[in-house]
Amino acid sequence: MKIARFSRLGFILAAAGSAVGLGNIWKFPYIAGEYGGGAFVLIYLITVLLIGFSIMIAEMLIGYLGRKDGVSSFEDLAPKHKNLWKFGGFQGLAGLFIMIFYSVVIGWIFHYIVTSLTYLPSNVEEAEKIFNTMLNTDIFTQLFYHTLAFIWITYVLTKGIKGGIEKMNLVLMPTLMLILIGMFTYATTLDTFGRAVEFMFAPDWTKIDSNTFVVAVGHAFFTLSLGMGAIMTYSASMQKDSNLVTNAFWIVFLDTSIAIVAGLMLFTFLYQYGSGPAQGPGLVFISLPAAFYEMGIIGNIFAVLFFVALGFAGLTSSVSLVEPMVQYFINRFNWSRLKSSITMGLFFYSLGVIALLSNVDGYKEALTWNGKSFFDWVDYITASIMLPLGGLVMAVFIGFVVEKQRVESILRPQLGWAFDAWYFSLRYITPVAMFIVMLSLMEIL
Ligand code: PHE
Repeated sequence: MKIARFSRLGFILAAAGSAVGLGNIWKFPYIAGEYGGGAFVLIYLITVLLIGFSIMIAEMLIGYLGRKDGVSSFEDLAPKHKNLWKFGGFQGLAGLFIMIFYSVVIGWIFHYIVTSLTYLPSNVEEAEKIFNTMLNTDIFTQLFYHTLAFIWITYVLTKGIKGGIEKMNLVLMPTLMLILIGMFTYATTLDTFGRAVEFMFAPDWTKIDSNTFVVAVGHAFFTLSLGMGAIMTYSASMQKDSNLVTNAFWIVFLDTSIAIVAGLMLFTFLYQYGSGPAQGPGLVFISLPAAFYEMGIIGNIFAVLFFVALGFAGLTSSVSLVEPMVQYFINRFNWSRLKSSITMGLFFYSLGVIALLSNVDGYKEALTWNGKSFFDWVDYITASIMLPLGGLVMAVFIGFVVEKQRVESILRPQLGWAFDAWYFSLRYITPVAMFIVMLSLMEIL
């Protein structure tokens, strides 16, 4: 099968669209808050640069050289033990698993877009009540918006790389950036902006322990969409003579800047109108709407725009989470794109319903094991085990399995003198770091 190609800009926006997701706007600010701000942000930035950037190049290279779905690319590139290495491509399954909870959260966001238009809670207690009522009792609303998310994502996938994924990213990504830049510019005019900057950048080393390190590394991975085959699958559709290093740089740069811009903006609003930074996962659904309330009518507009931007970020990541498996079935089983997209969609949709029910009173008990709901389990298994494991496999695959001369012929001209440093780090530093992170994440979560 011939795989369609992205345009150059289309590739960068689609890959950045994959990376910029709920991880940047929903998760990053609250974990930065929870783990003490500046010191965490610094460790996260260093990890993104040292480990994230180098695995990003490796993952891109597998797709770029393989030019097929993940499983076939691994198979074709391994000089021997093809049947073993092809399992590297089944990492695409992690994307479908992530979608189980990701699509539910996108549903909440859709719901918040609609309600913020006319109503905002007047304080954090009320906001918390509204959120928990939705989460724990309101099956219908959650199911309705979850279904909407499923239809949107599946529809885009049926339209393919060019007419679906690229087209959506070309519209949604610039819109998302405009909204964030607009709201960020407004935030810089508020008195509390300085406090937000200080919180995000002044490191308080007393807050650092091994947990901080592990969470920062884990998040760097999730936010850059690494270890799952999303970047690899998109890279199979990259233009032939593209510069992988420049592309990787743009994706890492956009992803990191958007996380920081979102964080600074949210903390400014929360200092100015709300209750300060450390709020946990409910931050954007609880503390933020209450802060927007204090702004008056402009708060409603901001709230709607904010949730639209968050929804766009989620949708552009979602298609990249499902596309690897969609391509797998098209390529290996000769399925039509329509059949493959709908089947993969129904897979995450139906398990998503179970994830949704696992937060609802009356179902919760049956769907909770060891203190974690089904929803939390999926999040935990994917982010803490599957992605780091996938990253480890990709680093080892490019570092030790694919012939060095093949890797070098493409990357030495692009990396120059840095090639040797990159190769060394991929072979020895990254695998060890990933292994340690995986072990410790399994324990602390
Ligand atoms: N990077 C996305 C986010 O930050 C999530 C994601 C992970 C997407 C892995 C694709 C692959 O939300």
